[in-house]
Formats: sequence, structure tokens, C-alpha cells
Amino acid sequence: MHNTNNTRVLLNAYKWPPISKKIIKAVIKHLKNGSLGEYEEDTGPLVNFEKKFAKYIGSKYALLCSSGTSALFSAYFSIRLQPGDEVLVPAFTFVATVSPLLFFGVKIVFVECEEGNGNIDPTDLAKKISQKTKAVVITHNGGIPVDIDPILKLKDKFSFFLIEDCARALGSEYKHERVGKFGDVSCFSFQEKKVVFGGEGGIALTSDRGIYERMVLLGHYFRSKTKTHLSLSKNVIFSATSLGLNFSIHPLSAIIANESFNFLESTISNRAHSYKEFKSALLKRRVKSIKLTRIPNYCTKISHYHYVTKYNSSILPMISKKVFVSELRKRGVDARITDHKPLYRFPLFQKEGKLMFGRLGNNCTQPSPSYGTPSDRFFDSMIVFPPITKKGIIQEYVKIISEVEKNLHAYHKDF
Ligand SMILES: Cc1ncc(COP(=O)(O)O)c(C=O)c1O
Repeated sequence: MHNTNNTRVLLNAYKWPPISKKIIKAVIKHLKNGSLGEYEEDTGPLVNFEKKFAKYIGSKYALLCSSGTSALFSAYFSIRLQPGDEVLVPAFTFVATVSPLLFFGVKIVFVECEEGNGNIDPTDLAKKISQKTKAVVITHNGGIPVDIDPILKLKDKFSFFLIEDCARALGSEYKHERVGKFGDVSCFSFQEKKVVFGGEGGIALTSDRGIYERMVLLGHYFRSKTKTHLSLSKNVIFSATSLGLNFSIHPLSAIIANESFNFLESTISNRAHSYKEFKSALLKRRVKSIKLTRIPNYCTKISHYHYVTKYNSSILPMISKKVFVSELRKRGVDARITDHKPLYRFPLFQKEGKLMFGRLGNNCTQPSPSYGTPSDRFFDSMIVFPPITKKGIIQEYVKIISEVEKNLHAYHKDF
């Protein structure tokens, strides 16, 4: 019999976001200033946060947005995508990496993932790239950077725009450089599960003045009024109306994100420490049913979004991943199965999606491949664990995982 109290404690051990006293104080201070907006001026906490964030990544310009999704939408608008342009995207990523592209009528080409860690596979990318490729989108999944060098070599040869979706990898480094520095535009999210959180919110970064101004023009009409953000003459004529959309972040979200940004480095290092503990505990207890995903040597720093493992079905051939996870959860281990399957498996990217987007959708999808792709296999085996840092929990989790594996193995042999 399991102790149900202990099970509950274990299952609820991961709490995020941490709302500290400093965050509460910053919000109250902002409210006491008697204004919720800050759009008419070029100074103040929001602009300072943008500057701080841009400096951290190593970009010239940063633009706070209402979400990571609106940051990505702005990025796609900024590079002047035209209907029929080809855009290569990861098949295995969060829906919002790709869904904004549906509004531009571009031809979306899915690229398979590396089976080691689910990131875009540069070899498959090289096969699918062509002179028609206008942009390539990459996502640093789960905090593990994509292998950038081969992609930059392709960029030199084919000169496409590179868009980085860094929503799950703020602070991760590829060969000692922070992700977000490599793309023509890079986007981050401050949704509440992220390392830096604001409830909702996002930010788009670029070092190209023209790209920055197009992003401001698209969705920040109050700001473009200031003119300080629009200097190129072709843009200044729109300063009264911009292009008419409002993608600006809620100031309170920005205040919270700014405050949580102050403890980003300690969040990253606590998670790295507990990930290491997870890895060595799995090794020590000789757990074989799950394996942590591969972390390549080029990753010099990882900002873990969650701990991604793969279920090794050859160890327990009669036990499905779902049953295995449910056994773990019954004992209090917060193992999770996500529903983020490869994008070409969702109706949005199939013929139903084409219909919804009408004329824009004519050219936006390709037939989905038959089942059994690298992205399917990665998704089918993936089990994730929240990045728990609470003392003792990881050890307890691994102890239970090992016991469950042994019990199921014994059951399997008896069967
Ligand atoms: C990889 C990735 N891209 C984009 C997004 C979209 O960000 P938001 O939820 O802030 O719109 C998310 C959010 O979870 C994400 O994980």
C-alpha cells in the first residue's frame, strides 16, 4: 500500500511560478504610480527591461509583445514573407512556432527532428532547403540548443532569414553564446511556465533596424506615435496609425517578467544542479526503462524548461508508455506525457486547416507523411518531468522509478 499523503506531496512538489515578495512589491509600486500604461515615453521600466534583455542576449533591439506567439507573428511580418514563399520549420515543436505562418500564405515545409533530443535535424534541413527557401525557423526544444553551425553554413550558401524560437531556452548557450543571438529575429515567451514569467508576454529581438521598425509598425501603434522608435522615412509616414494592431505587452506582465529576470541565473543553476542529480541517480540505480535525452557537447549551458526522457520500450515490451507513466503517477512521481505531437499530425496543418485559411491557406501545407517519422518516434517515446529543485524529491522520484521498473519487470516475467 502506498501512503496517499506522501503521494500527494510528491505529485505537488513542483510549484511554478514562484511569486516572491520582490515581485509583489514591484507590482504594487507600479500600481501606486497611478498609471498602467507607459507608451508615450522612451524611458521607464518597460524600456529599461527591453534594453537589459537585448544586452543579455547580445542583440541591438528588443520589443516587448503580448505573448511569444505575437512576437513570432511580428517576426514573420518583419521579414516580408509573401504568399508562395517557402519556409522550413521544425515538425516537432510547439504549435505557435509555426501557426502564425498560416496567416502569410507561405508554403510550410516540415523538417524532421534529431531522434537524440527532438531538435531540428540539420541533415534533413539540408535535404529540403532550396533557392526558394525564404526563411528557416528553429526551436531550441526543452532548453537544449539546436546545432547552429551547420545551419549558419546553409544560411551563408542560401541566404535565408533565420528565426529562432527561444521560448523554452532563455539563457541556454551554444558554444558559449546565448541562443537568440544567431537569428535575424529571435523570440521568447514570458508565459507563466517559462523561466522568466509574466503570466503572459513575450519579446522579439533583432539587430536589424529595418526588421525592428517593421515589428513596431505592425503591432505597437501607441509606441510608433513617439517617433523615437520609427526613424526610417518609409515608416514615419505611418506614425499616426502604424499598421493598426496592438500586440503590446500588459505593463504588469512586463513588471513581473522584469523582476523574475533578476533571478534567472539562479533558476538556471538550480535546475542544472537537480538535472545532474537526476542523471546520476538514474545511473546509480541502474534504471533502464527511461533515458535522459542526448545533450550534445556544443551545449555549454542549458536552461532546462523540463527534463526530457525517452521511454525504452524494449525493457518492458508489454507495458505501454501510458501504463508506465500512470504507474509512476500512482506512486507520486510527476511524470508527464505531453500532447504536442509532430505538427503535421494536427488538422490545423492538414486539409481542414487549409479550408479555414481560405485563399491564404492554398499553399500553406504539404501532405502529412505516413506514420513512423523520426518526429513521431521521438514524440511516442517522450516522457517529461518538471524541473523540480526541491531537496530530496529527485532522489525519491528515482527510487520509485526504479521500484516500478522492477515490479513491472517481475510482472512481465510471470506473465
Ligand atoms: C516553443 C514555444 N514557442 C512559442 C510559444 C508561444 O508562447 P506564448 O505562450 O507566450 O504565446 C511557446 C509557449 O509555450 C513555446 O513553448
